[in-house]
Amino acid sequence: MKPRVLVSRAVFPEVIARLAGHFEVDDNQADVILGVDGLKARLAGKAGALTAATDPLTADVIAAAPSLKALCNFAVGYNNIDLAACTRAGVMATNTPGVLDDTTADLAWALLMASARRLPAAERWLRNGEWKGWEFVQWLGTDVHHATLGILGMGRIGQTVARRAWGFDMKVLYHKRTPLPAEQEAACRASWVDKETLLRESDFLVLLLPYSPATHHIIGAAELALMKPTAHLINVARGGIVDDEALIAALRGGRLAGAGMDVFEGEPKLNPGFLGLDNVALTPHIGSSSRSTRMAMAMTAADNLIAALGGQRPPNLLNPEVFK
Ligand code: GLV
Repeated sequence: MKPRVLVSRAVFPEVIARLAGHFEVDDNQADVILGVDGLKARLAGKAGALTAATDPLTADVIAAAPSLKALCNFAVGYNNIDLAACTRAGVMATNTPGVLDDTTADLAWALLMASARRLPAAERWLRNGEWKGWEFVQWLGTDVHHATLGILGMGRIGQTVARRAWGFDMKVLYHKRTPLPAEQEAACRASWVDKETLLRESDFLVLLLPYSPATHHIIGAAELALMKPTAHLINVARGGIVDDEALIAALRGGRLAGAGMDVFEGEPKLNPGFLGLDNVALTPHIGSSSRSTRMAMAMTAADNLIAALGGQRPPNLLNPEVFK
C-alpha cells in the first residue's frame, strides 16, 4: 500500500500527478484554509505532507499526527513550522531554497522602482481621470541610479538583489551578523557595514531576513528614525520584521519618503493605515509568484517528500539530526 500524504493547499495538477506516482494523495485543490484544527484532522494517518507558509504547523498539530515522518514546505521560509517539535517527534522538515531567488529579487526591484517613482499613486490618479495636462513639476520621484542600496540580510536573495544594482550604477551596502567571505562580497560588489550605518546611509533599504523572535520588529520606530527622510524601505521577506504601525506613522509624518511592501503583520489582514497612504506600494505576498518559480518550488517540495518517505535524505532537510 502506498503511503498517504496530504497536500495542504491548491497546487498545479502536475505536482499532484507526480506525487500520485508514489503516494495516495489527499489534496486540497479547493484551497480551503485548514488552520490548526483542519490540519490536525487531515494529517491523521498521513506519512507526510506538502505544506505552505500559511499552515500553522505547531507542536500541537505535529503531536496530533504520530504517523507523520516528513513535512515539506513549498516555501523558503519555514517560520510556520515548529522545527524543535518536528525534531522531538522525529519528523523531517524541508524547505525550497534557491529556486525562488531570482523571482523574489525581481519583485524587490519592482517594489523599489514603484516606490521611487510613485507608480501606484500616479496610476490611481490617472485612472481616476485626474490627469488634466502634462506639467513640468508633476509626480516628481526619486532617482534610483547612482543612489545607495542597502540590504539587511545578505543570503542568496540579498546577493541576487545586489547584483541587479550594477545596471543602476548604485553603491551597495549590506549588513548581516557575519560578513560574507571576501570573494562572495566582491562578486556582489557590496560592502559590509554595521546596522546603524546601513540605516543612516541607505537611499533604498531592502529587508531580506528570515522571521524569528530575534528579527521581530527589527525595523521599528527607533530604526526608522535613523533613516534618511528621503529613503524608501522595501520588505519582501516576512511580516513582523517591520513594526507596521511605526512604518505607517513614519510614512504619514514624512519621516520616510516611501515603502514597498509585499508582506505584512497579520496578513492577509494588513494594517488599514497602509491603505490611506499614497507613498507605499503594496502587493499581496507574491515575491516568488511566477508560474515557473512556483512550479519549481512545488516540485522541489515533492522531491523532498519522495526522498524522505523513500528512505533517502531529502535534499533540503532542515533538521538533519532526525535523518537516520
Ligand atoms: C515565501 O514567502 C517563501 O518563504 O517562500
